[in-house]
This record gives sequence, C-alpha cells and structure tokens, in this order.
Amino acid sequence: MNSLIEISDLTVSFPGDKYRLTALDRVSLTIRPGETLAIIGESGSGKSVLGVSILGLLPDHAEVTGSIVYAGKNLLHASYSEMESIRGRMIGWIPQNPKTGCNPSMKVWKQVVEPQVTHTDLSRADARVRGMRLLDRFHVVPSDYWGDQYPNTYSGGMLQRAMVAMGVSADPEIIIADEPTKGIDTINKNSIVEVFSELKTKGITLVIITHDLDFAYRLADRVAVLYCGQVIEITTGQTFFANPRHPYSQALLRSLPRNGLIPIPGSAPPMHAEHAGCRFKDRCSDCREECTHAMPAFSLTEDYVRCIRYDNRNQAC
Ligand SMILES: Nc1ncnc2c1ncn2[C@@H]1O[C@H](COP(=O)(O)OP(=O)(O)OP(=O)(O)O)[C@@H](O)[C@H]1O
Ligand SMILES: [Mg+2]
Repeated sequence: MNSLIEISDLTVSFPGDKYRLTALDRVSLTIRPGETLAIIGESGSGKSVLGVSILGLLPDHAEVTGSIVYAGKNLLHASYSEMESIRGRMIGWIPQNPKTGCNPSMKVWKQVVEPQVTHTDLSRADARVRGMRLLDRFHVVPSDYWGDQYPNTYSGGMLQRAMVAMGVSADPEIIIADEPTKGIDTINKNSIVEVFSELKTKGITLVIITHDLDFAYRLADRVAVLYCGQVIEITTGQTFFANPRHPYSQALLRSLPRNGLIPIPGSAPPMHAEHAGCRFKDRCSDCREECTHAMPAFSLTEDYVRCIRYDNRNQAC
C-alpha cells in the first residue's frame, strides 16, 4: 500500500503514582501521500497524543512502543536534531492550544515565518513580507499592524488563525492540524476550509484532528475514528458520512444537529481502566453478550471496523 507515514502498533502510556494511563493502544494507521485524513473522536480519545507522537513532542515520561515510519526512518528512534529538521519543514504542526503553542515574547509575523527562516536562506525582509501575506490570507488583518504585535494581544480565534499560518508557512510535505477550527466563527472557518482545499489541490498531505464533523465532511478523503485510545473505524469520508458502520461512528453522526442532535448515552471508560471486551459496549445500543468477551484480532485492511458484527475482512456478518 502506498504510504507516506506508516504507524504500526503505536502504544503510548503515561505512568502515574496510582495508575498508568494508556492514551493510545496499538494504533496502526497509514497516512497516504496527498490525502486528507481526518482523525475524529470525542474528548480524551487520544487524538492529540497521536499528533504529538508523530511530531516527537511527547513528554519525557511517556512510554512509547510500536513504530512511526516516515521517509524510511522510525521517528520514535530519531534524534532531537533529526526531529528538529523534520518539524516545520517536512511536517508542519498546528497545535491544539494556540496560547501554549506559540512564543509569547516573539512578534507574530516572526513566528509565522520561523519554520521558513530556520529551514531556508530567506532574508529577513522577504520573510517579513511573506509573514504579513500569510496573515492576510488567514484574515489576520490589517496584517502590517497585527503582525507586529505579540500573541497576548490577540483574541483566541485570531491566534488560532495565526497558528494555521505558522503551520503552512514552510510548505511542508505533510501538515498535521489539531483542531484548526476550534473557537473560530463560520466565516473564518470557511476561509480555513478554502486554504486547506487549496493545499489539497497542491498535493500536500493533510491530517486534520478535529471534533468538527462538518469540517471533516468538507475536506476528508478518509476518516479514522478514535475511541478510548483505539482506532475503531477507518474508511473513506464518503462511506463514513453516508454509511458509518461502527455503532460509535453511527452515534457520533446522530449527535449532529442536522441528524437530530441525539446525544450518545453515558461516557467513555477511563483511559487507565482494564478494558474487557469492546470499549464501547456500555454505551452501545446493539451490545451483545459476546461484546463483553476479549475482542478478536482485527486485521488491518483498507477499510476497517473494530466491531464483532464485522469479520476480519470487514464484511457485515
Ligand atoms: N502529558 C500527559 N500526561 C498524562 N496524561 C496525558 C498527557 N497528555 C495526554 N494525556 C491523557 O491522554 C488521554 C488522551 O489525551 P488527548 O489530549 O490525546 O485527547 P484528545 O482526543 O486530543 O482530546 P480533546 O478532544 O479534548 O483535545 C487523556 O486521558 C489525557 O488526559
Ligand atoms: Mg486534543
């Protein structure tokens, strides 16, 4: 299979005094060149941990097994300087929290072009022009005023848009955007959709981590659904939105306003719990006795549903 990043059996745990929290449990996922892959799932399911794992930004106390292979290299074994040369230039990162994701003591235009200045021989004057242009493109206007300000003067939505400008600045091969539309109104969201669509047509690979199903609907070629640290469905955007198969995917879509705003009952089990059987079983309207038993090994195929109603080739039983 054609892959740009191959994630295999990725497990990320955070040991604590009382318990160990497993944020990702044997996640395997292929990111294909030129595709837009949406990673969706409710809060705490492990979406951001997946993003920071690829970028090599996990905290030191995280315990990680498995592999993330990019350009023939397992990024989990890459040195700090190797990751520094990959971040920004090869893989752009738009972090979830703009307040902690930027430098409070650097003017915004400089931060916007920092990946370019670090990785190319762009002059300061050219970098400034480019930084202002990028801010314009993401509606941070007037850019020659706002570019010269520090992040603490920005509103949340404006800073979010500036972070998107930073992520795309060095024309990376892949952009991983963690909740790029969080706190952003419809007009500005449309402009982010436009720019992302443009990046798509340029062949840039996009990984969008999002709660915003409408945003995923408008952009995603494929969707991977995370639930409680596991991928529970991977399929095309078209199949996911027209015919989701995992009961959790179905429930997620029913919770959209246009589908009746039906809430998903209950809540996900704690990430530190010992999980017996399917992790969604307590909330599933179609839970069967066998769902409480150990889950079968689901093979990783193109189109994949972690539910016993589907066999390992994912044909409905
Ligand atoms: N540095 C850390 N130390 C300990 N636990 C962590 C750390 N980072 C994340 N976690 C835990 O890992 C789990 C997954 O977190 P993650 O941030 O990936 O969720 P998420 O799906 O991105 O949620 P949200 O949609 O709210 O952003 C959560 O239980 C979180 O508390
Ligand atoms: Mg997150």
